[in-house]
Amino acid sequence: MSKIRTAFFCQSCGYESAKWNGKCPSCGQWNTFVEERVQKDTPAKQEWKTNDNPLARTQKIISLSEVQTIAEKRLLTPDNELNRVLGGGIVAGSLVLVGGEPGIGKSTLFLQNALQLKDVKTLYISGEESEQQIKMRADRIRASNEQFYLLTETSTQTIFQEIKKLQPQLVIVDSIQTLQSPFIESAPGSVSQIRETTAELQRFAKESNTPVFLIGHITKDGSIAGPKVLEHMVDTVLQFEGDQHYAYRILRTIKNRFGSTAELGIYEMTGTGLRQVTNPSEILISQRDDLLSGVAISATMEGMRPLLVEVQALVTQSVYGTPQRTATGFDLRRLQLLLAVLEKRGGFHFGVKDVFLNIAGGIRVEDPAIDLAVLCALLSSYEDNALPNKVCFAGEVGLSGEIRAVNRIEQRIAEAEKLGFDKIFISRYNKKGIDFSKFNIEVIAVGRVEEVYQQLF
Ligand code: TYD
Ligand code: MG
Repeated sequence: MSKIRTAFFCQSCGYESAKWNGKCPSCGQWNTFVEERVQKDTPAKQEWKTNDNPLARTQKIISLSEVQTIAEKRLLTPDNELNRVLGGGIVAGSLVLVGGEPGIGKSTLFLQNALQLKDVKTLYISGEESEQQIKMRADRIRASNEQFYLLTETSTQTIFQEIKKLQPQLVIVDSIQTLQSPFIESAPGSVSQIRETTAELQRFAKESNTPVFLIGHITKDGSIAGPKVLEHMVDTVLQFEGDQHYAYRILRTIKNRFGSTAELGIYEMTGTGLRQVTNPSEILISQRDDLLSGVAISATMEGMRPLLVEVQALVTQSVYGTPQRTATGFDLRRLQLLLAVLEKRGGFHFGVKDVFLNIAGGIRVEDPAIDLAVLCALLSSYEDNALPNKVCFAGEVGLSGEIRAVNRIEQRIAEAEKLGFDKIFISRYNKKGIDFSKFNIEVIAVGRVEEVYQQLF
């Protein structure tokens, strides 16, 4: 008997070390090292990989020109949001990881999609829920499908035997943290197990050309081996996120070998499953009749999609020596920068004010074009003067108070027009080469913060 070798693995990034460390030298996380057994490939495993595995084959070197181009066929699901996030449907043989906090709706999303794919033989492997629980969920979302097969199993060896019998066209694994390979002795959910089971599924996906979806949990404190460990092993990484207090869920692409990573899908969690939100701008802007100070609408882009969001600011007299700055859904340092610009270029005294900023709907905006709306919301609250109704903004603010051009301005203007806005403020530098006469909305081009202020107050 050979001696059992163990090693310590960082449960956050998968870094391997011979000794225990308090802080991971790779990802910098504290207290994430756990001792796991390390195994070399046993003869049994080697044999399984080559002989037993029906899908294994030997490879030889070929020239790229010999490789035949096959027209990429994508499987379109009835869910347009998912199709878009995947870059235009499911690619054959792709391995897709879907991460998200527990309870966000990952199982619901994929069960719902699988049930709607009526002519695709789908295998749903669940290591978390029993057949009854899944049936109950299916009843709740009121869907059924003859071509939907269920397997509650966690051992990859059994799973591959069943797959060989059933020959599914799509495989969904819920969740990767529950799977166990018989060749690794560590507990399910440990770094070595997650790596091994994913590698086995990856091999299966590539060799059988079957798309595989892996659902993975990420916890806020990262105590379970995070799907971070697998990000480089899979083709596409999607993240399902949302605020527990809102019904809206966002499906985001983090990595995609077959499409853009700038895509986004929006869903609403209802009593009967997830509903696609096809016109997100309407839900993100609160409908109200009376004008309030501190509110400005921004025409932002999320990926290729225009999205109108509401920025809310509250500027009050500070009671403590150090004024507070709080931002939800917006970068705090960016807020401080905009306040500094207003202080220096506009002569406003934000230094003695508490400033709170919120992006409505619980979403997070990274698009720099939101700057102008943030600035106007701040000014509106500072002056306690509501902005006119039906006005929106799209522009980045520079350090010297200039309004900078942003990308895809025509799409932003078109979206604002579609939603019934009368005026949109954009950067003067965005005017070049664009014919604004085709829009049925007044486009106001501004160059500096002062000009915006004069136009509005
Ligand atoms: P679930 O898909 O189990 O989350 P995950 O797999 O990411 O852990 O979703 C769980 C939550 O969704 C749960 O709190 C109940 C809620 N839910 C609804 O609100 N409506 C529904 O139709 C379903 C099926 C779930
Ligand atoms: Mg689940």
